[in-house]
Amino acid sequence: MNGFKSITPFDITDNVFKLLDRDWMLVTAGSPDQCNTMTASWGHLGILWNLPIAIAYIRPQRYTYRFANENRDYTLCFFENKYREILEFCGTKSGRTHDKIKETGLHPLETDRGNVIFKEASLVLECEKIYVDNLKKENFLVPDIAEKNYPFDDFHRFYMGRICNVWIKTR
Ligand SMILES: Cc1cc2nc3c(=O)[nH]c(=O)nc-3n(C[C@H](O)[C@H](O)[C@H](O)COP(=O)(O)O)c2cc1C
Repeated sequence: MNGFKSITPFDITDNVFKLLDRDWMLVTAGSPDQCNTMTASWGHLGILWNLPIAIAYIRPQRYTYRFANENRDYTLCFFENKYREILEFCGTKSGRTHDKIKETGLHPLETDRGNVIFKEASLVLECEKIYVDNLKKENFLVPDIAEKNYPFDDFHRFYMGRICNVWIKTR
C-alpha cells in the first residue's frame, strides 16, 4: 500500500483506549464505487479464538450499517488530530444525504482485498467479519446502561473482525 508500511497487530504501540475514546476512527465498508464511512469511538482490539480481532459497533439506523452487513470486510482508520473536523463531519452527517468522502476531501485508496482506506490515516486495520450479532436488551445485567444508551431500543450490531492487515503511515 503506497505511503503505508505493513505491520502486525503485535506492533501497534498506540494506547487502544486513547485511540478509540479520544482519537476516534472511521469505520468504512464497501468498494470504492459503493461504500460508506462513519466515525466511531466504541469498539475493541483484542484476541479471540487465538486471532487478533477488532470489534466495531454500528446502530441499525446508520447508513454504514447496510454496507457493513453486505460486505465481507470493513476497515478502521485512525487519524492525527489535524483531521478532527473531518471525523466530526463523518460522525454527524449521513451518507444518505452527503457524499462524505468527496465533501471532506479524504483520498480513498483501494486495498488488495477491494476495501476502502484513506490516504490521510495514520493507522489502518483491515478486518474480515467473523462473527456478527446484536446487543440484546434482556442480556444487560445492569439495566441502567441499556436504558441510558438505548432509549429507542436501537441496539448496536457488533462486528467481530479478524484483523487481516495493519498499516501505518510512512510519510
Ligand atoms: C465521536 C463519535 C463517535 C461515534 N461512535 C459511533 C459508534 O461507535 N457506533 C455508531 O453506530 N455510531 C457512532 N457515531 C455516530 C455516527 O458516526 C453518525 O451517526 C454518522 O452520521 C453515521 O453516518 P452514516 O449514516 O453515513 O452511517 C459516533 C459519532 C461520533 C461523533
